[in-house]
Amino acid sequence: MKAVGLYKYLPIDHPESLLDLDVPKPEAQGRDLLVRVEAISVNPVDTKVRAPGKPDRIDPHVLGWDAAGVVEAVGPEVTLFKPGDAVYYAGDITRPGSNSRYHLVDERIVGSKPRSMDMVQSAAVPLVAITAYEALFDRLGIDRDGAHCGRSLLLIGGAGGVGSIGIQLAKLAGLAVLATASRPDSIAWVRRLGADHVLDHRQPLRPQVEATGRRFVDYIFNCADTDGYWDTTADLVSPQGKICTIVENKGPLNQQLLKLKSVTHVWELMFTRAKYQTDDMIEQHRLLNRVADWIDGGKLAGIHRETLQPINAANLKNAHARLESGTMIGKLVLTGWE
Ligand SMILES: NC(=O)c1ccc[n+]([C@@H]2O[C@H](COP(=O)([O-])OP(=O)(O)OC[C@H]3O[C@@H](n4cnc5c(N)ncnc54)[C@H](OP(=O)(O)O)[C@@H]3O)[C@@H](O)[C@H]2O)c1
Repeated sequence: MKAVGLYKYLPIDHPESLLDLDVPKPEAQGRDLLVRVEAISVNPVDTKVRAPGKPDRIDPHVLGWDAAGVVEAVGPEVTLFKPGDAVYYAGDITRPGSNSRYHLVDERIVGSKPRSMDMVQSAAVPLVAITAYEALFDRLGIDRDGAHCGRSLLLIGGAGGVGSIGIQLAKLAGLAVLATASRPDSIAWVRRLGADHVLDHRQPLRPQVEATGRRFVDYIFNCADTDGYWDTTADLVSPQGKICTIVENKGPLNQQLLKLKSVTHVWELMFTRAKYQTDDMIEQHRLLNRVADWIDGGKLAGIHRETLQPINAANLKNAHARLESGTMIGKLVLTGWE
């Protein structure tokens, strides 16, 4: 079957950074679904996994952690899906990724595709929706049904994939959302998604937060740069407030700044449940179904902005280069196999 992958971890402009491959079609065992992949999306994790510095491989490494498609076959222990079901999911970082014609994924981290979206629009959603949902509702403890209505959230990196869904989920929970964006196009996008205030992350954030009538914000969701915003977010978060980070830090983080305010800092990694096969892994199945219901009910808007066709190494190289530029707005999706 067709797939895109690599044997060597190389800069994206190297001819062998991503290759068109022919690999064996896998078979579904246990709780796995074999999915016929119709559309995939790209995320910064793809570029981080592809980044140079790791030893060459004998077997190819197929990347990609976002897909929409149709269940082709199911393992003997599958209970949630049947062949022919339309699904969407992000997958498991410890397994081959979704940049292949057929793909195996554990049913507990798969949702039913939103009925109101096509495959392309659906593929844009799973990884960033899982991240933003878990960050806001599981890690920061914000009540998704509105018990914390009126509290404030600063979301750093509002126009990116995670921010695009994070703004909408926070508005659904009734929060006042201050989201950052720095260019006319990204500012307009963030406004359209419902942010109450748009702050420019290229300018100091404290005066911009104060201009909204606040000294502090209750919650901070940092979707951009953990080290770079550490001191700023420690300053801006309320005493006893909460900060969630999702980007790996490069240096030590000064905990003393948080101690003074009794601030809670939490990490979110959307691959944790699948990587460690946690007892509550099936929560990602439920979460994706809930997100699909919100989409079908008109409560969440799509975040897909661009499409590349077909799914091949040349188009995936373009997509990786776009991600590495740090200027993505919403999501880029690839579809079709030639
Ligand atoms: N832990 C997890 O589970 C998890 C899950 C998903 C993503 N992540 C990580 O989270 C990060 C964001 O992911 P993503 O998919 O949202 O990325 P993305 O779509 O590539 O984000 C692009 C956006 O980042 C903004 N940006 C660039 N530099 C910034 C800065 N210095 N400060 C604030 N915003 C900045 C840009 O806004 P402007 O154009 O307006 O400047 C752009 O719209 C990545 O590092 C990714 O690996 C982690």
